[in-house]
Amino acid sequence: MTLQIIQVGLGGWGKDWARDVVAKNKDVETTAWVEIDAATLQEAQQRLKLPVERCFTSLDEALTTVSADAVLVTASLPGHVPSARTALQAGKHVLMEKPFAPTVAEAHELVELAARQECLLMISQNYRFFPAPRAVARLIQQQAIGRVGNVNIDFRRYDNLAPVETHRHYHIWEPLLVDMSIHHFDLMRLVIGQEPVQVFCKTWNAPWSKYDEPAEGAMTITFDGGAVVNYRGSWVSTGPQTNWAGEWHVEGEKGELVWTSRGETQETASIQLLGEEKPTPIDILEIGPLDRAGSLAAFVHAIQTNTNPETSGEANLKTLALMFAAVESARTGLPVNIA
Ligand SMILES: NC(=O)c1ccc[n+]([C@@H]2O[C@H](COP(=O)([O-])OP(=O)(O)OC[C@H]3O[C@@H](n4cnc5c(N)ncnc54)[C@H](O)[C@@H]3O)[C@@H](O)[C@H]2O)c1
Repeated sequence: MTLQIIQVGLGGWGKDWARDVVAKNKDVETTAWVEIDAATLQEAQQRLKLPVERCFTSLDEALTTVSADAVLVTASLPGHVPSARTALQAGKHVLMEKPFAPTVAEAHELVELAARQECLLMISQNYRFFPAPRAVARLIQQQAIGRVGNVNIDFRRYDNLAPVETHRHYHIWEPLLVDMSIHHFDLMRLVIGQEPVQVFCKTWNAPWSKYDEPAEGAMTITFDGGAVVNYRGSWVSTGPQTNWAGEWHVEGEKGELVWTSRGETQETASIQLLGEEKPTPIDILEIGPLDRAGSLAAFVHAIQTNTNPETSGEANLKTLALMFAAVESARTGLPVNIA
């Protein structure tokens, strides 16, 4: 059975979802597109050649006009909770872009609403759908490097060339921690297989940064199984660019795993045990649809099989809690425990 969806939010990333992800999935049919900004809706309608009668500026209107099983939320963060709430109240499943919600309380509210409505609520943590983090997570689970100790992660990009007035990204809330590091926080939980318990974070802006809020940061995160992550991230780094997942060095008692994923340079992972002279590449296995296609396929599969996806709203609460703890630590200058 084809899953009928309404897509909400047609900014840069939403248009990309419509064209490159949803349109290519044979199990899904989009029955309406919603964008709150009329000019953006018109531009998207023309660019993507969408039927005018299926384009709306309100999700409520779309829900009463077309049939749908689910709603895909690709709006910017202020649109996440209102769109998901409306969809769930109408009894529709929801797949939503990261970050889940602007407050932990609203995220909990949506998780409870989804449970009451017996609907699926899933967050698209698309960085999980790549072979390298999966391969490394499996090796860690199999104790290939023994107990995990120190984990060093670096993320560097130079997103500082666009005109400051028109580039929305320069003006969003917490562009590093909330918009970007959320991916890395979620990957830490997947790869290390432990849950975060405390974070001590500092953020800042380089003198040349065009961002309003901190575009750079560093933090130490402790995990419940004893792992300690040292993370450095920057949107305005003049150093060599990393892939989007960053560069990871995971030290265990028996040796080290090194990996990177999702970007311009090759997806790689290697292992070097104590006493070995050089690292051995790890077989990167096929994992099925990648990136957002993987998220969407997992969402469809979970609905078809009535099972919980690994990035359900409820499962994503810990990722979100780490993100908010990092924001609070950066603001107060103090370590913050994660409930
Ligand atoms: N997973 C990834 O790799 C990745 C990459 C880029 C962006 N994103 C996420 O995708 C989302 C959209 O990002 P973007 O770059 O397209 O942002 P954007 O600001 O370019 O576009 C967002 C669009 O959502 C619309 N919108 C806001 N509230 C709405 C509502 N209530 N109803 C309908 N439309 C609404 C806005 O009018 C805007 O056109 C964000 O959550 C962002 O974090 C994820």
